Amino acid sequence: MHRSKKVILIVICVSLGFLLSKIIPNYNQVKYASIVTGHPEATKIGEYILNKGGNAVDASIATQLALAVCFPRAGNIGGGGFMIYRTKDGDSYSLDFREKAPKKSTKNMYLDSIGNVIDSLSTHGTLSIGIPGTISGIFDAHEKFGTMSIKELFDPAIELAENGFLINERQANLLNSYKKDFIKFNPNNKYFIKNSNWKKDDTLIQTDLANTLKIIRDEKRESFYNGIITKKIIKSLGDNAILTEFDFQNYHSIWRDPIKTKINNYNIISMPPPSSGGIALSQLLLMFFDLDLNLKHNEVKYIHLLTEIEKLVYADRSKYLGDNDFFYVPTNSLIDKKYLTNRVKKINFSKPTPSANINPGELNYTESEETTHFSIVDSYGNSASVTTTLNTNFGSKVFVDGLGFLLNNEMDDFSIKPGTPNTYGLVGSEANSIEPEKRMLSSMTPTIIEKNNELFMVLGSPGGSTIITSVFQTILNVILFNMDIQNAVNAPRFHHQWIPNLIYMEKNSFSTKTIDSLKLLGHKIKERETMGHVNAIHISDKMYVGADNRGSNSASILFNK
Ligand code: DON
Repeated sequence: MHRSKKVILIVICVSLGFLLSKIIPNYNQVKYASIVTGHPEATKIGEYILNKGGNAVDASIATQLALAVCFPRAGNIGGGGFMIYRTKDGDSYSLDFREKAPKKSTKNMYLDSIGNVIDSLSTHGTLSIGIPGTISGIFDAHEKFGTMSIKELFDPAIELAENGFLINERQANLLNSYKKDFIKFNPNNKYFIKNSNWKKDDTLIQTDLANTLKIIRDEKRESFYNGIITKKIIKSLGDNAILTEFDFQNYHSIWRDPIKTKINNYNIISMPPPSSGGIALSQLLLMFFDLDLNLKHNEVKYIHLLTEIEKLVYADRSKYLGDNDFFYVPTNSLIDKKYLTNRVKKINFSKPTPSANINPGELNYTESEETTHFSIVDSYGNSASVTTTLNTNFGSKVFVDGLGFLLNNEMDDFSIKPGTPNTYGLVGSEANSIEPEKRMLSSMTPTIIEKNNELFMVLGSPGGSTIITSVFQTILNVILFNMDIQNAVNAPRFHHQWIPNLIYMEKNSFSTKTIDSLKLLGHKIKERETMGHVNAIHISDKMYVGADNRGSNSASILFNK
């Protein structure tokens, strides 16, 4: 290269370095930063915060608010979720901002006078709504770990709601298909309703939502739980609802100890109850590695063994898991290696055990599509794994009049009648029965993994009951089959949840030969369009991102040294 050109190049590089070090306070030590979310607009906003020097909690807050605007089927301020946070020094935390049952809820509130489940009562309309936790979670996370101002974190989502964004085809179709529900459950507002059909690249502007976010930005947590928004929610829900101002005043998100499990040189850090995710994922991994087998990815024997393990885990889930604040969950016994080794002995290597012959284990203990997941690693080395939801698409379908946001239908995650499956086919018992102020059991599994005590993976997924098995299989794809993270999240998945007694397999993803061989072993198979959307980050020599190709997920790597 000509000498003068070289000089120019060096000057450019040095100036660029100087500029970056001004924008990003710790640029010289930065190794990497990245974000993977369910929607490109949310990724952009999270990226903007990380670029400004925000940490993973700052970016999670801005991303979550952005998802409430650009991904309204699941992103929310009227729902709840969970966060796993790991600091650069290796300390880890979990934040529970799950919804709670209203004080006036009762065990049999979804049953008629002769004990039958009343159709749709727990999934649609005002009675399906749990007290939202998202705003409490945002302010709790900010208070403990946030570094940027609330204004800086709220403003990008406010702008997005005010100026609007272009919806994609998937969103247009979804809005059209839920039009009837929006009309039915919202006699006093017209949110998301257009005379004509929604089309790809239409702009969705949400002025009322922007104003609501401004109120929360300016008047903070109080506005939502003991202020103007509380009052408006209660008024908007009308006389049929059982939510009261008291419910909001008494809601608190909670920092809990994460579930930590050691598998060889990996530490799995995941969500404790009221999510079943952390315990179930630990059980799956511990049982699988107890078998110590040499298997090929998605070969018949692998699918057989994983589904047999999954049955045992979901059977335990049905009996033992619920909100530990209300019903004792024997966490240590459930992830005890001896207990799991004994459970694994029940597995027949050549034949499926019918679900009817599988029961939850006997424990010896003393009493003492729609959700969304995003993963973030900031430039300081902190990481956040966040799954948040309204439960099913657009939650209860009920908007708050004048405030422009949707409320969840999370009450359906309770076991509304012992043995009766919920939307995800999951059955439960006393541990997860409805009680005032109790949190409903979840499957959300935000997870962070360390390898040799260093940050290794950040991942999670939506997908109801299939969240746990999607996260499980993605972890195996990386640590067992050495797949790169993009292939690991894209790889075909399968799922068994004990009841019903079938393997769900992703459509057009497994060969007829594999399916026939499984049937020959005695498995029942049901094909399903997709299963989970895993959004993950993998850290090894560099940082790698995997945005699941099943949805409109998007990833961005900001730095990678
Ligand atoms: O908490 C749970 O387990 C469910 N409410 C999650 C719902 C969900 O993942 C829907 N997404 N596809």
